[in-house]
Amino acid sequence: MAKPLGVFTHFADLSQDEKIAVKTAWEAANVSRDLDLCYISKFPVGSAIVAQNAAGETKLFSGCNVENKFMPATICAERNAATTAVYNGYTKFLLVATVCAKAPAGSPCGLCRQVLTEFGKDAVLLNIVDKDSNVRKAHGCDLLPAVSSPLITPEMQSSDVRKIGERLVALVKNAHTPYSKRARSAIFVTSGGDTGPHSYEGVSVENAAYSASINAESVAMHRARAEGLLSLSDSRDRILYVLVEDTEEHNPLDGESLQILREFGEEATIWLFDKSGNARKAELEEMLPDSFGPEAL
Ligand code: THU
Repeated sequence: MAKPLGVFTHFADLSQDEKIAVKTAWEAANVSRDLDLCYISKFPVGSAIVAQNAAGETKLFSGCNVENKFMPATICAERNAATTAVYNGYTKFLLVATVCAKAPAGSPCGLCRQVLTEFGKDAVLLNIVDKDSNVRKAHGCDLLPAVSSPLITPEMQSSDVRKIGERLVALVKNAHTPYSKRARSAIFVTSGGDTGPHSYEGVSVENAAYSASINAESVAMHRARAEGLLSLSDSRDRILYVLVEDTEEHNPLDGESLQILREFGEEATIWLFDKSGNARKAELEEMLPDSFGPEAL
């Protein structure tokens, strides 16, 4: 079982501002429920964000999940609250309280983590864990941490891994990234089962409507899904190899990729490569701690 994020804290021990944010998050989740905005999942989520503007003023914003029959057009509660705050000029998040009303203890999904990291790296996070509004207290920087494991140089790698590193460099030339100029390539390998190892390749593919872009890791993982091979065995290994700009940076893989990997299960191994073939290895649980998964629904 995954280790929960942050420190358990009783509602009574929260500051006045934190208590108000927690109550507001519940109210937002109730809006989702009452207006049936979560009509597909029946899983109401509410989020409240205390944010600061350039003049140093602070204000509370809230939002709930709003679903759409075209699933990717659904917006999560955290991102709904976040974009409202940012639109009003409150771009520095100080406090983020979130509640999954049906299953308290859910934590932000990868996409929300990505947005919260952008505006709230130093924010205090309150994940409400029960009906009594007790919380787990963490920080924005905990959501998508850097990989701190030692560098594995090409000389230290097995010849198979070294070849994957080289293939990633060759593959990245196929990426279509005219907007961000940040091209990535990925290889998703599943092993075990009766049919032996399988490997799927992907590159970043951007779109003039930015949110319709897809990252390299998602392409690779979706190809594996489309082949139907992942349903053969729960126990097969999952290894995601990705070419990134800097293996040491904070938030090296975007939250969406990690969230997609999480759908296959809590366990997976990730190798981050740079263009020189140096790599760092991490477990999914380290990169997406206390993740939101299908079990929450
Ligand atoms: N959801 C959120 O609002 N926040 C998260 O961090 C995870 C998921 C919503 C989206 C969708 O309406 C429902 O929960 C099921 O994913």
